[in-house]
Amino acid sequence: MPQYIRIEDIALYGDQEVTIKGWLSLKTGKGKLQFLRVRDGTGVVQAVVFRKDVVPDVFESARRLSLESSLIVTGIVRADERAPGTPGGFELGVSDLQIVHEAMEYPIAPKEHSVEFLMDHRHLWLRSSRQWAILRVRATVVRAIREWLDEQGFLNVDTPVLTPSACEGTSTLFETDYFGDPAYLTQSGQLYNEANIGAFGKVYCFGPTFRAERSKTRRHLTEFWMVEPEMAFTDLEECMRVQEEFVSHIVQTVLRDRMPELETLERDIVPLQRVVPPFPRVSYDDAIRMLQQGGVPITWGDDFGSPHETYIAEQFDRPVLVHHYPTQCKAFYMEPLADRPEVCKSVDLLAPEGYGEVIGGGERMSRIDLLEEAIQRHALPREPYEWYLDLRRYGSVPHSGFGLGVERTVAWVCGIKHIRETIPFPRTLQRMYP
Ligand code: 4AD
Ligand code: MG
Repeated sequence: MPQYIRIEDIALYGDQEVTIKGWLSLKTGKGKLQFLRVRDGTGVVQAVVFRKDVVPDVFESARRLSLESSLIVTGIVRADERAPGTPGGFELGVSDLQIVHEAMEYPIAPKEHSVEFLMDHRHLWLRSSRQWAILRVRATVVRAIREWLDEQGFLNVDTPVLTPSACEGTSTLFETDYFGDPAYLTQSGQLYNEANIGAFGKVYCFGPTFRAERSKTRRHLTEFWMVEPEMAFTDLEECMRVQEEFVSHIVQTVLRDRMPELETLERDIVPLQRVVPPFPRVSYDDAIRMLQQGGVPITWGDDFGSPHETYIAEQFDRPVLVHHYPTQCKAFYMEPLADRPEVCKSVDLLAPEGYGEVIGGGERMSRIDLLEEAIQRHALPREPYEWYLDLRRYGSVPHSGFGLGVERTVAWVCGIKHIRETIPFPRTLQRMYP
């Protein structure tokens, strides 16, 4: 019985005969030697086929094997410092090789392709080492998120995808028909989280969220994943403290567990190492002064665009918490300041290096009269929010929460320009294929 192993574990099998199932990602060689770069999903290893070590049929198969063919390869694990791309420097001295499927000519060649071409072939592009590294980092980000929240006593309570109302403004709603009535794909689970804290105290939801974003930027998807913690008896100050601990845990976990992937991405890890609490805090008022003094045009009351966020973040060596935005910039549910209602208890976390907002959150309105007034001011229909108003009728408490976008976080941690590579099959204004 062959000893099937994962390439990831190859270091445990020095000098032993093992069998690997995978795909041929690169091939070189001539005459009596063939070098096959085999990938199995957990890593890559160089399999060396030496004519005198195998039966003639096997050597012939290796020689004519096309890229991305699937194969099962058996051989002795040998330490080889020079073996490229192998964990700990191991290679396989091949004794047998079985072709599972001979691939047609593979469309993605090891040369430059246009983004459009690669996106059209996303189902295959995922196999490349860069995409592999990014999505492994993503999986670790997701694990770190759940790990930290579970340990801190948050209960995972998920929220619906089909909803009767808007959370983040009506202009980005995806509408669908629900047996004759309009329904919307969720923009955020927050409103339901606010119900769930009444039952469970501290909760989080984690799932896909949808925005019909008309903006074609490198930071917007129409379908993205958001994790949203929500906490009863919690003010804005405590909400910021949770954010800095949470984000630090995510970044430090990736640094601990995904160094080979970050190396593949050529990520400079020094800025990531600095991501530890406390994060600087800047009020919106001070941020406006900072921008004006720096010659970045803006007036009080304007929302920040990406140049503003970049400028503010550049003033610090780690992520920055910008708090107390103008009420007019934010969603209807934000708690206003008692003595200055034009300002609300909101906070955004801006990542360094130009990545901008990765978290949006704040303290929610807890008084029913203010909430009723806000719903009216935002021209929202009253009926779909009746249950939400109920939450202010039966044991209302000060409460806060936030949403962290997974893709923006992964883009930042990986140091990649465009968010489209941080999700397996991106949905954008122009694309829903494959
Ligand atoms: O700032 P946003 O809109 O906040 C909310 O949805 C709140 N209801 C969350 C809460 O308090 N529970 O979105 C939160 C985060 C952003 O900071 C960003 O990281 C991400 O979600 N995000 C997007 N990511 C990719 N593409 C988009 N179109 C995004 N819109 C928001
Ligand atoms: Mg926001």
